[in-house]
Amino acid sequence: YENLLLARDGAVAVLTLNRPEKLNALNARTIDELRRAMLELRHDEAVRAVVITGAGEKAFVAGADIAELASGTPVSGRELALRGQHVFDLVEHLGKPTIAAINGGALGGGCELAMACTFRLAADTARLGQPEIDLGIIPGYGGTQRLPRLVGRDRAMDLVLTGRHVAAAEALAIGLVTRVVPAARLMDEARALADALAAKPPVALKLAMDAINGGLALPLADGCALEASLFALAIASDDMKEGTRAFLEKRKPVFTGR
Ligand code: COA
Repeated sequence: YENLLLARDGAVAVLTLNRPEKLNALNARTIDELRRAMLELRHDEAVRAVVITGAGEKAFVAGADIAELASGTPVSGRELALRGQHVFDLVEHLGKPTIAAINGGALGGGCELAMACTFRLAADTARLGQPEIDLGIIPGYGGTQRLPRLVGRDRAMDLVLTGRHVAAAEALAIGLVTRVVPAARLMDEARALADALAAKPPVALKLAMDAINGGLALPLADGCALEASLFALAIASDDMKEGTRAFLEKRKPVFTGR
């Protein structure tokens, strides 16, 4: 990869968006590399949790690359949005937990990337927002859809229509991030969460994420039917046998991911 750093340590992968001179803005190459990295991580059974962060002190990701957007046409714009949405869907449906370690500005596509992750851990210095309105466009990588699902319609309207940036504390208060930590501790905290998740039974983790993400798009009764089916799959896993047996034998379970 040219614009990504991908490091594996045990069962945790750390993926760093690495174009700090452009505040890690998502140009076409970076989006394509992110797509390839997600496919690589999805199929790597040794990886059980992924941390996504940005290089440098200033930005997680400062959005789609405005220099590339500037020459867009309706046809290229639609393609751009669909491609970005597809890649962020791959992030959301990676099948293993992803933690956005938001080390600075997460704006536009950066906020949208963070929202596609399973968890959002923000440095106390981070800022989030959907400033597209001031460029004469709207969010195109899922922002108008994931933001109201996270923070509600009114707050999504506020952020998307005013384009204002929110500081980490406000992002926490409105439910846009999961937790705020001192900037110097961000990567350690992200890593500790990733390690904790990596020790969980991966099949049950995936099924839990599928139940929550899949159910959000469904009426309650259909969501509960989905839950029952996924519960049945979890019951069939080796890790379920190990987890219940370990509890009854008063020992720590050893999960194999089967
Ligand atoms: N696309 C392309 N380049 C970007 C970018 C983006 N989204 N965001 C920042 N950059 C570039 C700047 O053009 C600048 O490049 P240069 O040094 O070659 O001139 C470099 O990154 C540093 O950015 P700069 O604006 O000088 O930093 P700053 O600290 O003054 O401001 C921000 C930081 C995040 C407030 C500001 O860069 C910004 O508003 N970025 C755009 C955010 C946005 O609208 N995102 C949505 C895009 S759809």
